[in-house]
Amino acid sequence: MQALILAGGKGSRMGLDIAKCSVNIIDIPIINYVINSLNNIDKIFIVVGYKKDDIIGCTKHKYNYIYQQEQLGTGNAVKVALEFLEDDDVIILPGDTLVLDSLDEFIRFHYENKNDFSILSFNKDDPNGYGRIINDNGVKIVEEVYLKDKSLKQCNSGIYITSKKILLDYIDKIKINSKGEYYFTDILNYFDDLKIGVYLGKDIYGVNSLNDVCLVNEIIKIRTNDKFINCGVHIVDKNNTYISPDSFIEENTFIEPGSIIYHSRIGKGNKILANSRIINSVIGDDNKIISSDISDSFIGRGNNIGPFSHLRNYANIGNYNRIGNYVEIKDSIIGSYTNAAHLAYIGNTDCGSNVNFGCGSITVNYDGKYKHKTVIKDKAFIGCNSNLVAPVIIKENSFIAAGSTITNDVEEETLAIARARQVNKEGYMKKDE
Ligand code: UD1
Ligand code: CA
Repeated sequence: MQALILAGGKGSRMGLDIAKCSVNIIDIPIINYVINSLNNIDKIFIVVGYKKDDIIGCTKHKYNYIYQQEQLGTGNAVKVALEFLEDDDVIILPGDTLVLDSLDEFIRFHYENKNDFSILSFNKDDPNGYGRIINDNGVKIVEEVYLKDKSLKQCNSGIYITSKKILLDYIDKIKINSKGEYYFTDILNYFDDLKIGVYLGKDIYGVNSLNDVCLVNEIIKIRTNDKFINCGVHIVDKNNTYISPDSFIEENTFIEPGSIIYHSRIGKGNKILANSRIINSVIGDDNKIISSDISDSFIGRGNNIGPFSHLRNYANIGNYNRIGNYVEIKDSIIGSYTNAAHLAYIGNTDCGSNVNFGCGSITVNYDGKYKHKTVIKDKAFIGCNSNLVAPVIIKENSFIAAGSTITNDVEEETLAIARARQVNKEGYMKKDE
């Protein structure tokens, strides 16, 4: 079986200037939840149209994209796709509707009943905005705009299974409606002796407005947090912790409120304290991270980070280091037992172990055009308020005097002082009598 995802629409009810299906729910685009629910199907076609590059980009160019030039409705989207589909069965899904339950049962239902066309439906207390299933004289789907009895609660998910052949036979029968669109759901009005089945599923959420985004965000947030809590991750406040479902966290890690963890792997026994933000990073065991911002970085074990450290763009921190407040580390390697306890910038640096960065140490890595590298070997001591002007090498056991601006390499066991000598002018400030 192949899948056809419809993601060409503008999503005007959302009010954003991006393709609706690319809007994030806990930092994962809606359409990727749809794709993830298709775990056994590897042939996936996606109809794109409005802001198509948003959709192609957020699905990483991995699927077969079909361009719908004008957004003339779901019926038109399917029609445009038909010539590209394989001569096989197809599951059609809207790119804006999440199925958090498995689709396997629905697929089995289709084949066990030998249906020609199956519809995945669900019940909702507030069915506003969904097409409704009517099943008295044959199955029909009535869109909200045409609905007389608004109390009907059985909703159309927009997910169907049929075959390319049936679509070819009937798609051209759908007529343009008063809103200038071809509604795919109208296809049911033209079926003559086909076997139609309606399956009642659950856990299905259409996302049309920013309010829907909030609702689904809430559901996925709590479910993801519950999954980790059940595996021994100590989340203090599950309403106030945001972990993307593609993250991994091991047991005995403690997470305080306000923390955000997206697309990351986190080991055991860590303490992640208030308002930390960890994106796209790998963190080992037993670290303490206080209110810090960490992205695209690797952290080993037993480090003490924060408050307010900023580690980004391939900061690679070894073990048992101390990275303190207002320390920024970018594209740098730090060995073990190194301290940068306060107010430092370390960029494009290869730093060894047991190094001490005094308060206000800065690697001067950028000359306005190019980035240059600083190398700091084991046990070097960088005094407070030093500038290390790259490219430069500070060798083992050397000592940089506070306030130095270092432009030349410093050899092993050497004291480097690069600052003006102090001049004391005695009596200079004496007031005239
Ligand atoms: C649709 C169904 C409705 C169902 C609901 C479930 C129709 C007419 N109605 O309504 O019965 O309850 O989904 O969520 O099908 N799209 C295109 N090209 C277009 C128009 C839409 O690719 O020209 C895509 C959209 O990007 C979207 C999907 O099709 O992902 C559904 O379109 P949308 O306008 O959101 O349909 P609904 O009004 O929600
Ligand atoms: Ca929709």
